[in-house]
Amino acid sequence: MAKQKQNNTIFVHLLILFLSLSSLSVSATTVVSLLQNYGKPIFRSNFHTIYDTSNYGLLQLSNGLALTPQMGWNSWNFFACNINETVIKETADALISTGLAELGYVYVNIDDCWSSATRNSKGDLVPDRKTFPSGIKALADYVHRKGLKLGIYSDAGAFTCQVRPGSIFHETDDADLFASWGVDYLKYDNCFNLGIPPKKRYPPMRDALNETGRTIFYSICEWGVDDPALWAGKVGNSWRTTDDINDTWASMTTIADLNDKWAAYAGPGGWNDPDMLEVGNGGMTYQEYRAHFSIWALAKAPLLVGCDIRNMTAETREILTNKEVIAINQDSLGVQGRKVQVSGINDCSQVWAGPLSGSRLAVALWNRCSKVATITASWEALGLESGIHVSVRDLWQHKVINGDAVSSFSAQVDSHDSKLYIFTPSTASYSLK
Ligand SMILES: *[C@@H]1O[C@H](CO)[C@@H](O)[C@H](O)[C@H]1NC(C)=O
Ligand SMILES: *[C@@H]1O[C@H](CO)[C@@H](O)[C@H](O)[C@H]1NC(C)=O
Ligand SMILES: *[C@@H]1O[C@H](CO)[C@@H](O)[C@H](O)[C@H]1NC(C)=O
Ligand SMILES: *[C@@H]1O[C@H](CO)[C@@H](O)[C@H](O)[C@H]1NC(C)=O
Repeated sequence: MAKQKQNNTIFVHLLILFLSLSSLSVSATTVVSLLQNYGKPIFRSNFHTIYDTSNYGLLQLSNGLALTPQMGWNSWNFFACNINETVIKETADALISTGLAELGYVYVNIDDCWSSATRNSKGDLVPDRKTFPSGIKALADYVHRKGLKLGIYSDAGAFTCQVRPGSIFHETDDADLFASWGVDYLKYDNCFNLGIPPKKRYPPMRDALNETGRTIFYSICEWGVDDPALWAGKVGNSWRTTDDINDTWASMTTIADLNDKWAAYAGPGGWNDPDMLEVGNGGMTYQEYRAHFSIWALAKAPLLVGCDIRNMTAETREILTNKEVIAINQDSLGVQGRKVQVSGINDCSQVWAGPLSGSRLAVALWNRCSKVATITASWEALGLESGIHVSVRDLWQHKVINGDAVSSFSAQVDSHDSKLYIFTPSTASYSLK
């Protein structure tokens, strides 16, 4: 019975994936019709205003990557500059042994500090001889043997943020070198940028990566300075919308709100990037990390783990391995969820929601108040017709908690915690009306 249901679900997902893939080349408006496709009057007329996808960046870069947000790990948030080839290899091993890789976390991304302070006599970048004595190619081979992918870091400026050589005016040589090593992903930072606008500095690396002939994920990191959502869809597979995250509640909530502004611009091929996860780094509570992960998943953010995955607590692991939450992030429709309803002191009781494939909605009740609160999501705010019956599945409890909710849904949420649900409207019950 359960197996049967699962098979059906997989079939539906494949069908939707097929439908969305076959419409990708047509035009951006296909997404709107995809949302309307279900014909039944489930959604209110304000649905497309709430979930505006008019700027949905549909495969603009066309390198075949980022159909869903990228998943993996990045060295910066936990290790900063204290990296070496041992720690990268052990992390790759841990991605496999913890089961994270199997859930989709496949990019092993080395951030700043892998390179020597100067280029060699030929002008090439050189891995730091002390910390990466075997070189990056050996590391790429190592992670590839495990079925993982290797990411590297450089900077669209004269130096990286930690003052290693940057790639501006060396785009072709550096891209060729990365491709020759078997690199699969480039995070491209914004330090020492010589005052040249990002719109001028980021496209040359896109073109250089493309010309290598190797498929390389291009992650733009210009910190949201020049509103990259407005132009980066044609340049990169993701673009940072904000300054760096840090391991605090204040930083995480601020960044979530800043990133929300650009929701209409994300889509398959190009994603808003509110920066890497801090889950497991110790600066926030279990509830806060659960909210962080819930909102990043719903907002179609890249899920790049930023802790030491060789040494995760059971709680950290439980959060990062929640398959149902990951499935929201990786849903084939690729529409970014957003803040749809607020109430309470400083708008601290919040409802975030987004459309999913199969006429479903992802809904988060996020309590940013200092006390426990009951938060209500109204059908009106969610864009659902008032008579619609909804089955509510709790993705942290892993069960359906209300098979027949009508007109609104409420739950008590702990301070700084977030509940996360999938709402499945029942079309049958509506047609009986
Ligand atoms: C490699 O880096 C890790 C993490 O910073 C550190 O614990 C370890 O001692 C380093 N190993 C070597 C050989 O430098
Ligand atoms: C290079 O760009 C072209 C045109 O956008 C695209 O079709 C091709 O797949 C790209 N190649 C790589 C390796 O990214
Ligand atoms: C973390 O980010 C918050 C919010 O942006 C900021 O106020 C704070 O100064 C940052 N803390 C550190 C240690 O960088
Ligand atoms: C593992 O993490 C715990 C905190 O969760 C920390 O106290 C301990 O030092 C870490 N161990 C290693 C080997 O890094």
